[in-house]
Amino acid sequence: MVSRVIPVDPFDLIIFGGTGDLARRKILPALFRRYCSGQMPAEARIIGAARAEHSTAGYREFVAEAITEFSDGRSCDDGTLDEFLTCIDYVQIDARGEGGWSELVNKLTQDRARAFYFSVGPGLFGDLAERIRTHGLATDNSRIVVEKPFGHDLETARSLNATLAAHFKESQIYRIDHYLGKETVQNLMAVRFGNVLFEPLWNSQYVDHIQITVAETVGVGGRGDYYDSSGAMRDMVQNHLMQLLCLIAMEPPAKFDPDAVRDEKLKVIRALEPVLPYHIVRGQYDAQQGDTDAHPSYREAVDNPRSTTESYVALKMEISNWRWSGTPFYLRTGKRLAAQSSVINVVFKEAPHSIFGPDAGRHANVLTIRLQPNDGITLRVTIKEPGPGGMRLVDVPLDMTFADALGPEGEYPPDAYERLIMDVMRGDQTLFMRGDEVEAAWAWTDPIIEGWETRGEVPKPYASGSAGPDEANLLLSRDKRKWKGINP
Ligand code: BG6
Repeated sequence: MVSRVIPVDPFDLIIFGGTGDLARRKILPALFRRYCSGQMPAEARIIGAARAEHSTAGYREFVAEAITEFSDGRSCDDGTLDEFLTCIDYVQIDARGEGGWSELVNKLTQDRARAFYFSVGPGLFGDLAERIRTHGLATDNSRIVVEKPFGHDLETARSLNATLAAHFKESQIYRIDHYLGKETVQNLMAVRFGNVLFEPLWNSQYVDHIQITVAETVGVGGRGDYYDSSGAMRDMVQNHLMQLLCLIAMEPPAKFDPDAVRDEKLKVIRALEPVLPYHIVRGQYDAQQGDTDAHPSYREAVDNPRSTTESYVALKMEISNWRWSGTPFYLRTGKRLAAQSSVINVVFKEAPHSIFGPDAGRHANVLTIRLQPNDGITLRVTIKEPGPGGMRLVDVPLDMTFADALGPEGEYPPDAYERLIMDVMRGDQTLFMRGDEVEAAWAWTDPIIEGWETRGEVPKPYASGSAGPDEANLLLSRDKRKWKGINP
């Protein structure tokens, strides 16, 4: 199936932090792929802005290297890369001073969409927003893009929102949660609201419980300083897992429009019950047995022998509304686990009565939505076990991998940043977090973290390469349930 590409209008994109890691790994390769697909027009301008001194030619070389290194084997021919590079420019800029701003003014084109991408630490957001405004760079058709972490708690998120609101309208602020740009995360909405099959059953009358797992095999890598002051709760649960929960649990929005979707997500967050201390398990990974050099423990990785920061969280969540009251949501995420996989399991209730008698066996339907890898869905359905030995039931998978269903060879799911950056340029905020949504998520998260701090809780150790701490199993076994396997 060949995807339809609708080109966006020519735009100016200014990447503050244009020589940084995110620009190199994600933003620039994503733009190049959209250029190759014909979506980014040749008249667009991408202006890297950073403290370092670079000539335009030098920055183009930097961009070419980034694209070669991070294009995941999805390359176009060299000629296309050369064409793309003619869209690239650079300005040396001082975010906290005046250097470079008038040069930037001269590089911009009037009367086209303009986006300022803040690919820098949150400490600079306020300075940048203010200078963009005072130098007259912000037009009605301008927008800013901000990356996570969006605050460290409710107070800092509020103050960040207030800082940005002093210079830009909410309709101009694009807060990125890259999970929303993932093709399969958007598929959650397509599966729920594009089919008549699931929605009538999507409530506590038919759904026993829902499991959301985002497991990573990677450790904290070189991000020890950031991670040790955040932990899995702030790094993953408050944002990515919360977004998945919202898309699974929200009411059908009247249309796929930014405020309609975000209003519904906000209602879910506001209906979350506070989490009881014994409904949450924190973990911290130990070194890999036998290979401690290659895979150090969490504390070694962050160089903090007394760290009590969690690299794993599992929790039971309850949503107090008509649809979900009585159906728990179990979420877990962690680093250095046995598999790299993000999966949602919707576990339905068993049929209310078995006409086949107690010996035939009973199975619950389970809808598994694989977000990554091997994106697709599986529905476990009960059928008769073959053979003449009476009526016995088994459950078998109805399985679909999106890549197989959608082919053709060579097609690839776009990276989340491809979709999100094009949405910024089109002016579509549907897949971006609104300020009140972020604040509501922090308002729910803060008491959990404060509770750990007040009680002086220490995370449970778990072996690297395992499924996490054993204590996480108790969360479900207490309710006579079990986690589904962590492997995709
Ligand atoms: C980031 C977190 O937001 O998401 C990382 O800061 C995490 O710690 C990453 O590894 C996971 O993203 P993905 O796309 O690899 O699932």
